Amino acid sequence: MDKLIIQGGNRLNGEVTISGAKNAALPILCASLLAETPLKLSGVAALKDIDTTIKLLGIMGVKIARNGSEVSLDASEVASFEATYEMVKTMRASILVLGPLLARFGTARVSLPGGCAIGSRPVDLHIKGLQAMGAAIHITHGYIQASTLHLPNRRLQGARYYMDLVTVTGTENLMMAAALAEGTTVLENAAKEPEVVDLAEMLIKMGANISGAGTDVITIVGVDKLNGTTHNIVCDRIEAGTYMVAVAMTGGEVKLLNARADLLDAVIEKLREAGATVTSHQNSITVKSDGKLKAVNIRTAPHPAFPTDMQAQFMALNTVAEGVAKVTETIFENRFMHVQEMQRMGADISIDGNTALVKGIEFLDGATVMATDLRASASLVLAGLVARGETVIERIYHLDRGYEHLESKLNALGANVRRV
Ligand code: UD1
Repeated sequence: MDKLIIQGGNRLNGEVTISGAKNAALPILCASLLAETPLKLSGVAALKDIDTTIKLLGIMGVKIARNGSEVSLDASEVASFEATYEMVKTMRASILVLGPLLARFGTARVSLPGGCAIGSRPVDLHIKGLQAMGAAIHITHGYIQASTLHLPNRRLQGARYYMDLVTVTGTENLMMAAALAEGTTVLENAAKEPEVVDLAEMLIKMGANISGAGTDVITIVGVDKLNGTTHNIVCDRIEAGTYMVAVAMTGGEVKLLNARADLLDAVIEKLREAGATVTSHQNSITVKSDGKLKAVNIRTAPHPAFPTDMQAQFMALNTVAEGVAKVTETIFENRFMHVQEMQRMGADISIDGNTALVKGIEFLDGATVMATDLRASASLVLAGLVARGETVIERIYHLDRGYEHLESKLNALGANVRRV
């Protein structure tokens, strides 16, 4: 199994190009199932989760051609309406085929995702939303079996649906389903994440009638059919945020190309509070730091508040900042798996429920560490970049799920990272 070996202590300088967002690409790839003519995407990053989604769509009968970051998908002849346990267990986001399959073909069979490293993560709101649109749903043998065959014209029926928790993939699944439903659907307490907006923008180009994406009420007037279009995936704000924290910690000056500051307000504010200088331009962001940072309190919450997908990286930052920081995780119940590993590098962190108290120390020490999820792995890379000596990160397949060309991008900035 691959490992990363990092020699800490190098400053980062130069330019790095941010990839298309994983969390926008996954629902957008699944939305290809809604279209009767081919869809052409650009900005699709080379990531494990994207490979998994493309494989899943291929099994269903979608014809796919991939050339670098361009992918075209033709779902004119879909033959299977199933996502098996084997697929869903490797990637929970496979649940995103449920809404499109049901809306266009009237039937879907999708495995229930099990628990995962960061908590139980149920999909009850996806299911209840589809039921509100009239779908018949039965859970049998660990599978969600959904059908619209009893409904008028065998189509989902528009409905008002209030989600009692803000759910990103839930909002996306229901928005895709409603796009082909009969009548108007109103999703209340919808997720406002930029990836939801990117999906909505593409669905609109496909012929959908959607308003309000980016606010907490999304209105979708169903249409009879959707067609393919061309779409460039929005830049990855979490990848950008991760590089920004890296520069803040190591010191140096880095310009992030294909990065949008307007998607990162909460993160940029915290970086400035920590002492980094952040300047934004049209389609890029520059971060400058002397590496001497102050502790910053973090509280995760749905967009536009501080993203849970940046919590671990700021935990790493706080381990070497001056002062004491309180880091509170409100989205996932078990998202502090990186703490034990950082403690092995000498970090002073104590956990009380969903809050971690981080007392900054002068140096982390390199150690062999292992990560259990994607963003936790990224936070250990950040810790390794500033630690004294060598850090070995095991189980890096998590990183390959979400960071395109991580070691070559870091090395081009002056880091010393090797994959063995
Ligand atoms: C998405 C992102 C993930 C990010 C998360 C929160 C993708 C592919 N993944 O995950 O990177 O960390 O948003 O920003 O976009 N919940 C329920 N019932 C449901 C659905 C969710 O109780 O039916 C709960 C979850 O357990 C969690 C909270 O709602 O506590 C938010 O989860 P959700 O927004 O759904 O996360 P994902 O969409 O899975």
